[in-house]
Amino acid sequence: MRPILIIANWKLNGNWSFNEEYASLFSNGLKEIDLTGRQIVICPPSIYLQQLNGLILDQEIYFGGQDLSDEISGAFTGEVSGVMLKEFGCRYVLVGHSERRLRHQESNELVVKKALNAIAAGLTPVICVGETLEQRQSKQMEEVLSAQVDSILQGLGEQVEQIVLAYEPIWAIGTGQTATAEQAQEVHGWLREKIGATNRSVAENLQMIYGGSVKSDNAKQLLEMPDIDGLLVGGASLVVPEFLSICQTGEVI
Ligand code: PGA
Repeated sequence: MRPILIIANWKLNGNWSFNEEYASLFSNGLKEIDLTGRQIVICPPSIYLQQLNGLILDQEIYFGGQDLSDEISGAFTGEVSGVMLKEFGCRYVLVGHSERRLRHQESNELVVKKALNAIAAGLTPVICVGETLEQRQSKQMEEVLSAQVDSILQGLGEQVEQIVLAYEPIWAIGTGQTATAEQAQEVHGWLREKIGATNRSVAENLQMIYGGSVKSDNAKQLLEMPDIDGLLVGGASLVVPEFLSICQTGEVI
């Protein structure tokens, strides 16, 4: 069984008073919903982890980082390590989000190095893969996704069973242009097949989540797809009623 995993990616949003209000509304809302069989993760900017961790006390809510250093410690200005995130209550960390791959030129190699650091620190890396619109339209999608996934499979070896894979078509992120549930399923199914060719049981157990303009009104269709085990939610995760609604969507099998 693969539990439903819903991750809120706050990106560069939130501030002290927003967080207080969010935590209070969210905690109250949680009392009304049943999260059995689900894992909910909030990834705020890392500087606010301690604040939110102290305010959202529900045991079913986990925290995650949005990124981590590929280094352990030392002269790396501005970076945050996996061990630090763990110390501040994280269980997960996003790795290789397209906003990092594109804005910070993160390569497939770097993504693997970060994922290995996350695992070594006791975190679950949520590794993001996805294609641009141009790559999809010029039929390079499989090539791009293959390169991303092959480097994960080769770089992580046996440890691939410790990751979550997030498919986020770049053209669907923050654009309001969600992939249809069928489009997303097609890629998820293909990814599971591909990973299964290397290791069938890893592929069967791997949690694969979809991200890109997820909202309460498309979450259900996405989660009904056999190979979509959860959602990575950006903008909609910042609106408490919207996020709570997404958290309770989908049938736990
Ligand atoms: P979005 O972002 O839901 O705002 O499209 C998703 C993500 O980038 O993880």
